[in-house]
Amino acid sequence: EDASLLPSRPPVVTIMGHVDHGKTTILDYLRQSSVAAQEHGGITQHIGAFSVKLSSGKQITFLDTPGHAAFLAMRQRGANVTDIVVLVVAADDSVKPQTLEALKHARAAKVPIIVAINKIDKGGARIDAVKSDLAGAGVEIEDFGGDVQVVCVSGKTGQGMDDLEENILTLSEILDHRSEVDGPAEGWVLESSLKPTGKVATVLVKRGTLRPGDYIAAGLTWAKIRQLRNEAGVDIAEAPPGTPVEILGWKDLPAAGDQVIQSPDEDRAKTAVSYREGLRD
Ligand code: GTP
Ligand code: NA
Ligand code: MG
Repeated sequence: EDASLLPSRPPVVTIMGHVDHGKTTILDYLRQSSVAAQEHGGITQHIGAFSVKLSSGKQITFLDTPGHAAFLAMRQRGANVTDIVVLVVAADDSVKPQTLEALKHARAAKVPIIVAINKIDKGGARIDAVKSDLAGAGVEIEDFGGDVQVVCVSGKTGQGMDDLEENILTLSEILDHRSEVDGPAEGWVLESSLKPTGKVATVLVKRGTLRPGDYIAAGLTWAKIRQLRNEAGVDIAEAPPGTPVEILGWKDLPAAGDQVIQSPDEDRAKTAVSYREGLRD
């Protein structure tokens, strides 16, 4: 099929970097809320997923990832479902172990990166030192003749955030992401949990469109979609490609990282699950 004939979808951008370098703060600024302050101990525990509509009217889907060393699998998953990685490096702390690990994942997944040097409002900011450390880590930044864009920002004051948005949009226009909106839907489970409302999984739809009433299989379980909710908890009628969505109606909780595939009916959803169970045994 000719991909250029398919409709565009929003780019999926994953924010990665060392613990406390300001990933969530940058995202908070972009969506003007304050998730970082509400987080337990200020540490991102799960992949947070949401879409923002920018002043330009364009939409970007962002995935936040935890920088803590224990969450390697989540960052790996983040890198795999994403189109662009924004690598956040604190100007007063420079390149650290999770910075290098994030780079490794982005390279393994062949995802282009944009570097955001954050906390430039701080007294101890050393932008030039960060740039040489990045170059030392093999990042071909534009300052030294490479093609990796570097944007200096402050998630706290908002300085440079317009540039960051603009760089993301420019890169995503070049990458030109398109997906089928019709046909069987497919996606990935980003996280799942048992909530008072039931078993909930946040799914990033990659192609096709999910709607309440649809049957889907994921990992070793399946769902007849009872409800779709956006990140604000609002009921939505459909989830097109590039959209993170909360899905209710699961038989059991699927696991983060499970692939989600739409099935035409309940029988075939169950068959997909038995098939996978067979592979596991
Ligand atoms: P993890 O999810 O735990 O890996 O951390 P994170 O990268 O999401 O960092 P977070 O946004 O939680 O910020 C860590 C600390 O740095 C918080 O105290 C923020 O207020 C502070 N911080 C983040 N960005 C900036 C900035 O641009 N300037 C200043 N001065 N402080 C910042
Ligand atoms: Na933090
Ligand atoms: Mg965080």
